[in-house]
Amino acid sequence: MRSGIVFGNIISDGNLVLAPMDGISDQPFRWVCRKLGASITYSEFINASDVPRKLNYITKRACFSNFERPFGFQLYGNDPDEILLAAQLLSEEKPDFFDINFGCSANRVAGRGAGAGLLKEPDLIRKIISKLVSSINFPITAKIRLGWNQENLNYKEIVRIIEDSGAAMIAVHARSKDQNWKDQPNWKAIGEIKNIVKIPVIGNGDVKSQQDIQSLLNETGCDGVMIGRSAIGNPWIFSNEKKASLSKQQIITTIKDHWFQMLAFYGPTRAAIIFKKHLKCYLSCDQFSEIDLRKLISMSNPMKSKLFYE
Ligand SMILES: Cc1cc2nc3c(=O)[nH]c(=O)nc-3n(C[C@H](O)[C@H](O)[C@H](O)COP(=O)(O)O)c2cc1C
Repeated sequence: MRSGIVFGNIISDGNLVLAPMDGISDQPFRWVCRKLGASITYSEFINASDVPRKLNYITKRACFSNFERPFGFQLYGNDPDEILLAAQLLSEEKPDFFDINFGCSANRVAGRGAGAGLLKEPDLIRKIISKLVSSINFPITAKIRLGWNQENLNYKEIVRIIEDSGAAMIAVHARSKDQNWKDQPNWKAIGEIKNIVKIPVIGNGDVKSQQDIQSLLNETGCDGVMIGRSAIGNPWIFSNEKKASLSKQQIITTIKDHWFQMLAFYGPTRAAIIFKKHLKCYLSCDQFSEIDLRKLISMSNPMKSKLFYE
């Protein structure tokens, strides 16, 4: 039994967290991961300036089911008023918390001073969090990287500011912006952050197995572990099951669960297109042959294959 995380008025039922992932952690995938044991879920990131414009993609990203709770909307931007307005509008959907992205390294985000770009602007981070905490009746959390680059690892200053401004929890992707996804993540920094702040700290970066989960918890004392890429095609990382030890039928059952969530959420045409990337990862294992994989991926709707309905 894993202990829960207490943040704001929320008590999670465990300490494994599904990472927000643009293009991946949509409502169907969150549902699957929550079912298998993820205890906190986030939306894919949402550009704060798009919320008042009611763009179509926002309508989809703003959808979640009660089953995914505790669930938070993740916002990015660099204008405190714009982020506040977005949070106020999205409050109507009654999420459990709002998370602010201070970690995205993509140039289209960080390059315009949002996401990890804000790590260079500690005062703006303070303004954003303080404004939200004083105006919004939901816990506010933050997701950060360790700094803009290896020469400016200012995470100790940043986490103090985030906590002092009233945030309820911090998730730490233990790399700097300039590292993107390369190099080993610096888990030691997560332990240092845990020693600085009193609010819960979620560790993140290259957690690929049950053993990694345990090592990250033990080595850093962090309150929870966030998993991103390793959950794609392997949501069993949340249920303490090794994918290699599952039967073909067990894998197919989860694939079908995921597919039916996709179908209901996107409709058949979009679901078939979007599901392919998940299916490829589900089937990349010894239980399925290379031929199964190639045959399915070349079909316009792989879920019509006999493989799933025999
Ligand atoms: C495809 C993809 C999309 C991502 N989108 C987001 C996002 O919307 N918001 C965010 O905070 N992080 C995002 N991330 C970063 C992840 O949340 C996570 O911090 C990072 O992948 C490291 O964790 P991992 O090694 O477990 O994948 C994304 C990562 C990937 C691979």
